[in-house]
Amino acid sequence: MENKEIELEFSIKSGAPEKQRTACVVVGVFENRKLSAPAVDIDRASDGYLSDILRGGDMDGKAGSTLLLHKVPNILADRVLLIGLGKERDFHEKAYRDAIACAIKTLRDTGSMEATVTLSEIPVKKRDVVWNVEQAVLAAHEALYRFDRMKSKTNEPRRPLKRVVFAVSRRGELKFGDVGLARGLAIAHGIGFAKDLGNTPSNICTPEYLAGEARKLAKTYRFGCEVLDYAACEKLGMGSFLSVGKGSDKPPRFIVLRHEGGDKTQKPVVLVGKAITFDAGGISLKPPADMDEMNYDMSGGGAVLGAFRAIGELGLPLNVVGLIPSCENMPDASANKPGDIVTSMSGQTIEILNTDAEGRLILCDALTYAERFEPDAVIDLATLTGACVIALGAHPSALFSNHDPLAREIEHAADDAWDRVWRMPLWDDYQEQLKSSLADMANIGGRPAGSITAACFLSRFAKKYHWAHLDIAGTAYKGGRDKGSTGRPVSLLVHFLLNRAGKDAG
Ligand code: BES
Ligand code: MN
Ligand code: ZN
Repeated sequence: MENKEIELEFSIKSGAPEKQRTACVVVGVFENRKLSAPAVDIDRASDGYLSDILRGGDMDGKAGSTLLLHKVPNILADRVLLIGLGKERDFHEKAYRDAIACAIKTLRDTGSMEATVTLSEIPVKKRDVVWNVEQAVLAAHEALYRFDRMKSKTNEPRRPLKRVVFAVSRRGELKFGDVGLARGLAIAHGIGFAKDLGNTPSNICTPEYLAGEARKLAKTYRFGCEVLDYAACEKLGMGSFLSVGKGSDKPPRFIVLRHEGGDKTQKPVVLVGKAITFDAGGISLKPPADMDEMNYDMSGGGAVLGAFRAIGELGLPLNVVGLIPSCENMPDASANKPGDIVTSMSGQTIEILNTDAEGRLILCDALTYAERFEPDAVIDLATLTGACVIALGAHPSALFSNHDPLAREIEHAADDAWDRVWRMPLWDDYQEQLKSSLADMANIGGRPAGSITAACFLSRFAKKYHWAHLDIAGTAYKGGRDKGSTGRPVSLLVHFLLNRAGKDAG
């Protein structure tokens, strides 16, 4: 069972929209009948045909509105698709991405096999052509993403959208468009990979399954890949990591990926991803509501694999290490019990007061393992706390760091990628909440500031290097009716690495 990817072909073009010989040319219209520049060109060539239609009230330019026109006079394209852009002064990042998505979905639903989309020409405040094109590619992929490998029947569109041309306004911008296109594609493929892994149910996506996917990736892109089994982890003293998987019949795996794109003296960036393939809570069993979503508790690991896919495709000239501790958190006779005390690889002991606070138990040993790479920076990604969702909701990931310049670097990359983060405090004052009378620390810090005390716990294992932690519990997937992985924060990670590679301008 393979997930069938509908691979769209993209290209970049400049030139008059009225002269495009294509099945459909897509142009944007703002509210109050304000035409975008390419729409003005079409309007002029057709002697005011668009203005007439807008005056007649057929389309109001509201965000999400569409109108498909046939036989527009003097226009070489078979059809013209109008896309409402909303108010011009509100045309920011989100409106731009929504407009592209709306255009792509409308093209799909109207059976257009190819199209020239001019929305990519419309300026977005503070953004450049590279950004516009990259985000257009990402929004298009997002709009067409499907996960139907688990469905017995799929509805194949009779006339699937195959080719999309994104327009830039001048010839001189073509080269920037190409940079945006290459980046957008690599990131889209990384996001798609992370989404597929997240959406694969936990009866299939096990720790060994993730290990297999990592091996395949390593083979394609010539990464180093090592998969540590229970015995190998035991030898390393990963008592905290191994304790979590004991209640499951799926054996744990500790995945190590290495991309050696930089010279030997360059210290690597280490990406660490939590990969609990299912989090039932263990003996501190979760309540039934929404427990089905806990297959997404491997999303941190999925994002590391997604980022590696993009790293491979872009051939980044950097050294990057990926560490993915993976196991399943289940209740069973041999599972962790509240009150158990385990010894982490660092030597620090942990009293497990709640077996559902398992993410930190697997990450702490991965953070200690990271020391051997003498990293320049370590970033961990984890669906770590429900408290993070309460604090920030679904829009930003929570950012914690022990090093301000690294935090700023991540904030910058998050803005570039439009994959936002919000920094949270990591003050020592909170550390007290983790006190244990019997061990070096407890694994929970009580109800107040739950995502912060979780980060404080991790910080105790990240003292030897610059470190940042992203709590992606609210951002990595959507719950409820449109349940599905978002592939976040793959784009942020790739931008962080692109900026480090000094590839900002391509
Ligand atoms: N994987 C969960 C966190 C989570 C909850 C992610 C909801 C996404 C949505 C994590 O392992 C967990 O169970 N955390 C506990 C910690 C608590 C016991 C201190 C939580 O947040 O309830
Ligand atoms: Mn849990
Ligand atoms: Zn969890």
